[in-house]
Amino acid sequence: MRLILLGPPGVGKGTQAEKICSKFSIPHISTGEILREAVKNKTEVGLQAKVYMDRGELVPDSVVIQLVKSRILQPDSSSGFLLDGFPRTVAQAHALDCQLDTLEKPITVVIQLDAGEDEIVKRLTGRRMCPECGKGYHIAFLKPTKDGVCDQCNADLIQRFDDSEATVRRRLAVYLEKTHDLIDYYKRQNKLLTIDAGREIEIITEDIIKKLSVIS
Ligand code: AP5
Ligand code: MG
Repeated sequence: MRLILLGPPGVGKGTQAEKICSKFSIPHISTGEILREAVKNKTEVGLQAKVYMDRGELVPDSVVIQLVKSRILQPDSSSGFLLDGFPRTVAQAHALDCQLDTLEKPITVVIQLDAGEDEIVKRLTGRRMCPECGKGYHIAFLKPTKDGVCDQCNADLIQRFDDSEATVRRRLAVYLEKTHDLIDYYKRQNKLLTIDAGREIEIITEDIIKKLSVIS
C-alpha cells in the first residue's frame, strides 16, 4: 500500500501515521522529520532548510523532491510506504507521480485529514515532543505519564522550534496558499479519502484502518 497523508499543520498527520504504519507494516516517511534531523545534524540540506522552516515557509521543491526520490528507492519502501507532509505543492505531486509511474507503483490512496482552524491551533500550541526519541505528546489531549517527561526515554519534553504563534500562523497560510490545491489534484485522480480529523485520536485511527482494509 502506497499512501499519502494530506492536511494542514497540526491536524494529526504524524499521530495517525505512526498507527497506520504499525498496522500495515510500512515505513513512515515524514519530510518534516527528515528535515528536522538534517537541521539537528547541521548537514548542508539542514542548514539550507532551517532558514525556511524557521519562517514557516516551504523548503524549495528541488531539495525536498530529491530527498523523497531517494528515500522511496530504499529497500524498505519496495512493498509500500506512507508519505506524511509530502507532496506539498503541485510540482512535488507531479514529480512523485512521474517517479511512481516509471516504477509502475502508483499511489493507492491519499488520506486527507480535515479539522477546523481553532482545533488545529489548540493542537499545535499544546504539542510537546521528546528531543531524544521524537515521540509526540499534547499537554491536554495526549499527556505523558509524568508531566513534561517522555514515557519512553525519560527526557524533558520540548516545544518544536516552529510552533511559535507567528510561525504557526504562517504555516497555516502557506498550507492554504500552496498545498490546499492538492485536494483537487487527487480528487481528479479519484484517489482522495477525506477523514473527519476533528474527533478523538483512536476514533480517527479506527475509521482510517477500516476504510483502508476494504481497499487493501
Ligand atoms: P511538518 O513536520 O510536516 O509539519 P506540518 O505539516 O506543519 O505538520 P505538523 O507536523 O506540525 O502536524 P501534524 O499534522 O503532524 O500533527 P501532529 O500529529 O503532530 O513540516 C515542518 C516544516 O518542514 C514545514 O513548515 C516546511 O518548512 C518543511 N517541510 C516539510 N515537508 C515539506 C515539503 N514536502 N515541502 C517543503 N517543505 C517541507 O499533532 C499535533 C498535536 O495535536 C500533537 O500534540 C498531537 O498529540 C495532537 N493531536 C493529534 N491528533 C489529535 C486529535 N485527534 N485530538 C486531539 N489532539 C490531537
Ligand atoms: Mg507532523
